[in-house]
Amino acid sequence: MGKAVTEYKVAKEIFSLGRDIILTDEAQRMKQFTQHGTTSVFEHVIAVAKFSLLFAINLESLFGIKVNHKSLVRGALLHDYFLYDWHKPSEKRRGLHGFTHPSIACENAVRDFDISPIEQDIIKHHMFPLTAIWPQSIEGWLVCFADKWCAICETFKVDVSSYIIYRVNFHYELVKGGITFKKPWSRNE
Ligand SMILES: [Fe+2]
Ligand SMILES: [Fe+2]
Repeated sequence: MGKAVTEYKVAKEIFSLGRDIILTDEAQRMKQFTQHGTTSVFEHVIAVAKFSLLFAINLESLFGIKVNHKSLVRGALLHDYFLYDWHKPSEKRRGLHGFTHPSIACENAVRDFDISPIEQDIIKHHMFPLTAIWPQSIEGWLVCFADKWCAICETFKVDVSSYIIYRVNFHYELVKGGITFKKPWSRNE
């Protein structure tokens, strides 16, 4: 990524690194569930991927710390891949959502995607300090912080991510053929 960090570039990086996840029907299911306020789980994980990347870019340029962008984005996209409505009680679910959803999300992610140990660490430990074990990787810490920041913004309805969500959805529709461009020479067809 060049010197100027734009929302456009961040959206492009999220889509290129998380493409194999974003394009699946499984990941798209996160659009069905609400996370905080009026934000869907899908919108939330895109926002978390954005801020995780922004934190990583700053850490790299300020302190020379190397961050694995691919694992960071993929882990952020799947960190809340629990696939149920946590606002509704369910007999099948054990324990309180806040404590149990990281391990459920990780089980689902391992079942549906080919994910690395760093990506599993990101998912399992993103709720620290609510859950006892802290992230074991720099990528895990970045998602842990980005998640809290996004949760605050979503709860208080501060819009920090609508453009990035629009861009990622636009890329998705473009790849899936939902958006077509009429060729000028086919005007009379
Ligand atoms: Fe979570
Ligand atoms: Fe989250």
